[in-house]
Amino acid sequence: MATMESLISLVNRIQRACTILGDYGGDSGGAAAASLPTLWESLPSVAVVGGQSSGKSSVLESIVGRDFLPRGSGIVTRRPLVLQLHKTEPGITEYAEFLHKQRERFTDFAMVRKEIQEETDKITGKSKQISPVPIHMSIYSPNVVNLTLIDLPGLTKVAVEGQPESIVKDIENMVRLYVEKPNCIILAVTPANQDIATSDAIKLAREVDPEGERTFGVLTKLDLMDKGTNAQDVLEGRAYPLQHPWVGIVNRSQADINTKVDMIAARQRERKFFSTSPDYGHMASRMGSEYLAKLLSKHLESVIKTRIPGITSLINRSIDDLESELDHLGRPVAIDAGAQLYTILELCRAFDRVFKEHLDGGRPGGDR
Ligand code: GDP
Ligand code: NA
Ligand code: MG
Repeated sequence: MATMESLISLVNRIQRACTILGDYGGDSGGAAAASLPTLWESLPSVAVVGGQSSGKSSVLESIVGRDFLPRGSGIVTRRPLVLQLHKTEPGITEYAEFLHKQRERFTDFAMVRKEIQEETDKITGKSKQISPVPIHMSIYSPNVVNLTLIDLPGLTKVAVEGQPESIVKDIENMVRLYVEKPNCIILAVTPANQDIATSDAIKLAREVDPEGERTFGVLTKLDLMDKGTNAQDVLEGRAYPLQHPWVGIVNRSQADINTKVDMIAARQRERKFFSTSPDYGHMASRMGSEYLAKLLSKHLESVIKTRIPGITSLINRSIDDLESELDHLGRPVAIDAGAQLYTILELCRAFDRVFKEHLDGGRPGGDR
């Protein structure tokens, strides 16, 4: 168990190191740059897809268990946010870091939200424009599972005032860029108080993942359904069957956001909603944000397990490339990109070592 966790954590750190390296520009990677993008693409991540205000940012927040994302009605998320969660030792104070501000540690999550807003505006202006340039951030906490999450702007049907006509297609193309990658696990976020048959999330997910192998249906706003109706048909997998089970969610409402209802209270209320519901009481243990987080981390583990042979060979290729690249640069390397290459090399070696220990343990990919 410890081994699987450390492999996932190493994958996470390699992913982060590759991102930082990418930020120094294509050339600095030299020979190593050839295998790193492939390595990056083979590592799993989780992206949210759905219509505007379907509850995507709210779902991500509750997976993290922290309040830090800009949320609200209208187009709030206007740049992709690539968020890496790193599980730390117990007792460590949670903090966040941004790739664009590497030397600053954020322990106040209200400031994280402000930073995301400002960093969004920096590229798009305080407008309704969107930008495909991602914001990269990490959260280090004992209370998270090792995951890379991607928050994306919502799909829309029409441009509103202040937006170019092309925005509908622009957003769809931007979202597609993330979710068409075979390593991307899709959270198809659909509000229960709208017609699910017309869900943009399900439509796009079906298109890029026709077998439904990497799509999780997330049904939000169950608290807002019309009295006398329920979503049993969807949640029990009859109406829109996917390979993975649908998960129902109750996020905070706009009124809750305005009155600053906190995460703990919100989770308690969500649990109570399901456990006391005549419609969903019988499946309460398979509903809610906490369950979704666990389901995802279990899925991620199994994905990494099946990918380990591929990841290992890529990592070995990267080690070879990185070693020759570093020899070429000459050690010790002073420049940032060189140092970053060195970090990736060390991480790859660590992955290789842990993986071999795993093999020696006699249970390669065995059950836990
Ligand atoms: P996004 O645009 O898809 O990222 O959606 P947000 O997370 O920003 O949420 C949009 C609005 O819907 C906010 O006002 C939320 O408070 C509200 N909202 C999201 N999920 C739920 C839910 O499950 N129940 C209720 N009542 N409101 C929700
Ligand atoms: Na919104
Ligand atoms: Mg959002």
